[in-house]
Amino acid sequence: MNIVIGNQKGGVGKSTLCILLANYLALYQESECLILDLDFQSSISSLWNRDRANLDNPPLYEVLDLELEAFKNFKDKLNQVDGHVIIDLPGKMDDNELIPIYQYADLVICPFAYDKVSFESTLVFAQIVKHLNKTVPIAFIPNRLKAGVRYEIKSQVNEVLKKFGRVSPELPDRVAFQRIDTLSIPEEIEELVRKTFDVIHNHHLTIIKKHDGEN
Ligand SMILES: Nc1ncnc2c1ncn2[C@@H]1O[C@H](COP(=O)(O)OP(=O)(O)O)[C@@H](O)[C@H]1O
Ligand SMILES: [Mg+2]
Repeated sequence: MNIVIGNQKGGVGKSTLCILLANYLALYQESECLILDLDFQSSISSLWNRDRANLDNPPLYEVLDLELEAFKNFKDKLNQVDGHVIIDLPGKMDDNELIPIYQYADLVICPFAYDKVSFESTLVFAQIVKHLNKTVPIAFIPNRLKAGVRYEIKSQVNEVLKKFGRVSPELPDRVAFQRIDTLSIPEEIEELVRKTFDVIHNHHLTIIKKHDGEN
């Protein structure tokens, strides 16, 4: 399954949730994964290389650091990858190289925050994704929630986003998210992360897994 983590907005938690999803799938679902790091900042590749260099633990998964333009050549190989391919993208939407990435996506995961700017860009993002790929499911993840976001705001935003996809259980703003690595999920946030990804896994990834097993 080809999972794209996207939102045109930077800083919403795409790379963070990409790593946590790969860790979750490898550790709790025994799924094979491969991360494609298509962000020019290569933040995931750097972390993965650091973890491989400093620790004795074998990696949970591979990370391929590719230019956005290189996806065109990689897409024919997607079917040959065992398990899930998780793609981390830069925070932009104005690049034609993104078109095949969304067209080949089986699931789009979109982190966002409950503020006006984040909501508006998330809405535009969802419209573009649906324009490029009518049938792809979108899983929205409210991220970096601070105490004090009003219930009415949340439910209004969720109502709008529900027209495009599902809204997953929210993740709070905690420093533990800033200290993640590619080998484990910090204990302080493990339960929260599992709760969010269990919902996404149950809704979007279990049927595929069964199907994989049949082949
Ligand atoms: N739930 C969270 N709580 C606290 N900090 C977070 C959380 N999610 C992400 N961050 C931090 O926010 C910053 C931006 O996250 P990042 O994953 O790099 O976003 P993006 O890839 O969308 O640009 C990083 O410093 C990251 O550690
Ligand atoms: Mg990023």
